[in-house]
Amino acid sequence: MRVVFDNGIFITMEFLAISAESLDRAAEVIRSGGLVAFPTETVYGLGANAFNPAALAKVFEVKGRPRFDPLIIHIAETQALDKIADLSLLSAANREKLNLLAENLWPGPLSLILPKREIIPGIATGGLPTLAVRFPDHPAARKLISLSTGAVAAPSANPFGYISPTRAQHVRDLLGDKIDIILDGGPCRIGVESTVLDLTGPVLKILRPGGTPKEAIEKLIGPIESLLTGDSHGAEVKEALVSPGMMKSHYAPAAPFSVFSKEEIIGIKPQAGSAFLFFDSACRDVWIAAHQDSSAREKSFIRVLSESGDLLEAAACLFNTLHELDNDSPEISRISAQLAPETDLGVAINDRLRRAAAGNK
Ligand code: TXA
Ligand code: MG
Repeated sequence: MRVVFDNGIFITMEFLAISAESLDRAAEVIRSGGLVAFPTETVYGLGANAFNPAALAKVFEVKGRPRFDPLIIHIAETQALDKIADLSLLSAANREKLNLLAENLWPGPLSLILPKREIIPGIATGGLPTLAVRFPDHPAARKLISLSTGAVAAPSANPFGYISPTRAQHVRDLLGDKIDIILDGGPCRIGVESTVLDLTGPVLKILRPGGTPKEAIEKLIGPIESLLTGDSHGAEVKEALVSPGMMKSHYAPAAPFSVFSKEEIIGIKPQAGSAFLFFDSACRDVWIAAHQDSSAREKSFIRVLSESGDLLEAAACLFNTLHELDNDSPEISRISAQLAPETDLGVAINDRLRRAAAGNK
């Protein structure tokens, strides 16, 4: 595909399957300051050399992301941590917790906020003295990071405020004309972004619920705090104190979007162009039975995240389902979504649904 940048320079976006050659090529592009979208176990990331301020500036520009919203730095071995984070600034107790978390949950969908070293340019962290570090559990991501610069800044590869990409095609549709390479590694296994945990203060806090459930963290290091709560209408998603980029509204599809408990959604009447996103088929079946007589029901768009109500399966297809509903959106006038049970991965699923609702009422 041939595309033109604003400044008139022609570049060719390469859409490549994962192979030894494509990983070499992508690593070379990152080393020389270009942008590569790559798969991780959570969502696709938009990768840039974490040591290169000009490359980092391009990430903000391409995403339309505010400069104060810090990026996550991805590493491919625990030893790389010391180079970018100053662990001597952590309390002894927090250092011990870091070791436990890194030993047991890395590689995996957990980003840790730690004191930053000077070697990482301030633009990466929006001027903050801390940085988020993640060690992804995806072979291609790890290979790309170690072949390139050992530290790759990568936000989710979507325009700011939009639904995150869980397939290479989502990235192509959203940012294909603005980046150098898209590595296609198929659908992402986990499907929601990493959990962001702040390890810098006396009280450890989850700033963003994600692919690593709070329960798994607490099993290792004891009770932690969680900053995000909300009722089924998303009205109480707390904004205060949350990490800088965690906007209340995010992940917004084009059509008006609302979230409901299981009991509430059953009472929502189908209308022309209405779409229903059920968590499980049990709830869908009760809803269908309740609206048997409605002529609009047959014309409603109906999706189920997991027939059996499995949280892993639901998380894995959440963003793809939102992308699909969005692509059908000329005909969709409103999306009503059922919240998942509020445990394990359900917390992250509900956080994303509530943010989509807050972004688009
Ligand atoms: O799963 C993921 O984490 C994906 C994949 C690509 O690895 N990446 C991702 O990055 O979701 P992004 O940029 O979309 O989200 C980064 C989140 C933001 O909410 C940001 O505010 C927070 O991490 N964050 C980054 N650095 C921080 C810091 N120093 N202090 C507080 N929050 C920080
Ligand atoms: Mg994001």
